[in-house]
Amino acid sequence: MKKIAVFTSGGDSPGMNACIRAVVRTAIYHGLEVYGIRRGYNGMINGDIIKMDSSSVSNTIQKGGTILKSARSKEFLTVEGRAKAAEQLKKFEIDGVVAIGGNGTFTGAMKFYEEHGIPFIGAPGTIDNDLYGSDHTIGYDTAVNTALDAIDKIRDTADSHERVFFVEVMGRDSGYIAMPCAIGGGAEIVMIPETTTTIDTVIDTLQNGWKRSKTSFIIIVAEGDEEGHATDIVKKVEKALPQMDARVTVIGHIQRGGSPTALDRLLASELGIACVEGLLNGKKNVMAGKINAKIVYTPFEDTINKKKLINPRFTRMVEILSI
Ligand code: F6P
Repeated sequence: MKKIAVFTSGGDSPGMNACIRAVVRTAIYHGLEVYGIRRGYNGMINGDIIKMDSSSVSNTIQKGGTILKSARSKEFLTVEGRAKAAEQLKKFEIDGVVAIGGNGTFTGAMKFYEEHGIPFIGAPGTIDNDLYGSDHTIGYDTAVNTALDAIDKIRDTADSHERVFFVEVMGRDSGYIAMPCAIGGGAEIVMIPETTTTIDTVIDTLQNGWKRSKTSFIIIVAEGDEEGHATDIVKKVEKALPQMDARVTVIGHIQRGGSPTALDRLLASELGIACVEGLLNGKKNVMAGKINAKIVYTPFEDTINKKKLINPRFTRMVEILSI
């Protein structure tokens, strides 16, 4: 292996730059040439590929977003799109690729390898923390801290006005962002796709709280909850409790930006090194992750198809701590 490439794909996450930096510098450390593919799979298709050196990644470890840009490519989902991408990689004589992204990125990588035989290795780059094969994903810790900071501020105004706040956090189909926000933000209720929290439970919790002279409430809603978005949930609760003074806050894309936390910078750096060294050791079609403080390589097939479960201990913690 002489030349490798790195790219970011899907939703950006804080720490992606730290991971790119680690890939570039590890490659140089091992005597490899390294290229950056810009704009995700679209850039691979269009040959948007640049040579990188150590200084290309100077002053980036602390920066949010991704210096290589990101995209969700529709064209790469087609056989023709992947064939164009393969032509480009061959033109640049790329022997292996580091893909920083989530499930969509790895699904594309797996198909690409089957059709064109160029090995890919993945680093888990998503705020959602929904990837099987790593305790945490790159950007998750930062996103949770960003959301928590917002929740602390919401709590101030909720308390002053004696209101009920429904706060929606990201996470796609997972409650991984919602859960630590609920525990760390002192929420009364957490609504996540992995567990069933009915509208009746929300109503009961509010009524019991008012009986105990509680005057303000924080309800954390994961965007993928089965009862719908926070705006839908508040309408359903208001039907039964018209006296409720409620507001909705959707934290949104703020969760995707900002300077990565120390934990994200460390994880991203460690996994960037693990990706390049994995490729050099002949690994392919796997994601480098960290489980119980150890680097592990999990087949893409498992990261895509296996569900990472939320520890039921956390749900119980919210219940105990909100009385
Ligand atoms: O996967 C990261 C994520 O931020 C999810 O939490 C969210 O559902 C989605 O991406 C939003 O995607 P977009 O930025 O394309 O609207």
